[in-house]
Amino acid sequence: MLKTRMTELFEIKHPIMLAGMNWITDINLVAAVSNAGGLGIFATARCTPEEVRESIREIRRKTSNPFGVNVVLRYDSADKIKAAIEEKVPVLNYTLGKPWFVDQVHAYGGKVLGTTAVAKHAVKAAQLGCDAVVVTGHEAAAHGDKATSMVLIPVAASQVKVPIIAAGGIYDGRGLAAAIVLGAEGVSLGTRFMLTKECVLHDNFKKLCLAASEQDTIYDTKFDGMWGRALKSKGALELQKMRFGFLERLQAGLTIRKALNMSYGKFMAMGLKTMMAGDDGLSLWAQASQAVGAVRSMQAIYEGDMEKGFLFAGQNIGGINDIPSVGEVIPRIIAEAEKTMDIFAGKRS
Ligand SMILES: Cc1cc2nc3c(=O)[nH]c(=O)nc-3n(C[C@H](O)[C@H](O)[C@H](O)COP(=O)(O)O)c2cc1C
Repeated sequence: MLKTRMTELFEIKHPIMLAGMNWITDINLVAAVSNAGGLGIFATARCTPEEVRESIREIRRKTSNPFGVNVVLRYDSADKIKAAIEEKVPVLNYTLGKPWFVDQVHAYGGKVLGTTAVAKHAVKAAQLGCDAVVVTGHEAAAHGDKATSMVLIPVAASQVKVPIIAAGGIYDGRGLAAAIVLGAEGVSLGTRFMLTKECVLHDNFKKLCLAASEQDTIYDTKFDGMWGRALKSKGALELQKMRFGFLERLQAGLTIRKALNMSYGKFMAMGLKTMMAGDDGLSLWAQASQAVGAVRSMQAIYEGDMEKGFLFAGQNIGGINDIPSVGEVIPRIIAEAEKTMDIFAGKRS
């Protein structure tokens, strides 16, 4: 049994977490991972605060094991965090911002998990009281930064005392063993769990991922305004070349406003607030482009739209060749990691 500081901290069986993925990590996938002994993380970027509350309650009905929620602090997240804290969510995982809620989470015995892609941000997250930090390498789906996991994991692990969890490029037991050897206490898997039976991703895109090689991703700022990695597909290539028209930005902004159930006033106020937030702020125009990305991501995930849809995916699509259930893939990764570690230790050949 692979026990690490990650399994101890979160009181889970295996050192594997489901990376928070907007639109992808719904309550069923989260519960499946937690029920299989990993740490399921529910992404809240698309949710209203009430949906966050309801989802936490629903996940509790589906699993008695620990789980968490992922909040993107750059977006309007205060009310969602308030709901998650009132519901005493076991793990509050955040990204893109500073965690102002650490004491409130610790007060009820919850854990705060930062997600960063830069070692110095991992140091800062630990200083601000995070219990563990996910470091995301360049290979990852969505928002890795410049350093690959091979470098980022040991650099971060040697600078940070709290457990480091490795994300980006990992999809099997060899990857888990390698991450541990490099100084991590476990792994966070996005693309691997996206390609499971329980995942809502449309079959068109599951098939496209299975057919892809490790070379078939694109790293660009065109998907949502930040550097991010997506599956090379017709829609992604089109987004890469495109200058969004005014009409599409406006329509996408309005679609997202509706999805978030926000009044027009609140939507505009959120845009202005983010814009005024200094370096991290985005212009309303950039946010409208982000909305275009969000709409096209939904078109891929829910509708399987091969013309317009785009999908964030990691380089590890090149190594993933099947669609197992979560209950199959987690024990398989653990068995393979244990075998790999035995080989390191000279116990097997
Ligand atoms: C479709 C999709 C949506 C994502 N949405 C989020 C998100 O809402 N919040 C977040 O912190 N990370 C998000 N990510 C990034 C993942 O949490 C994670 O960092 C990444 O998948 C890890 O790399 P891997 O795919 O190589 O395992 C998303 C990734 C994907 C594929």
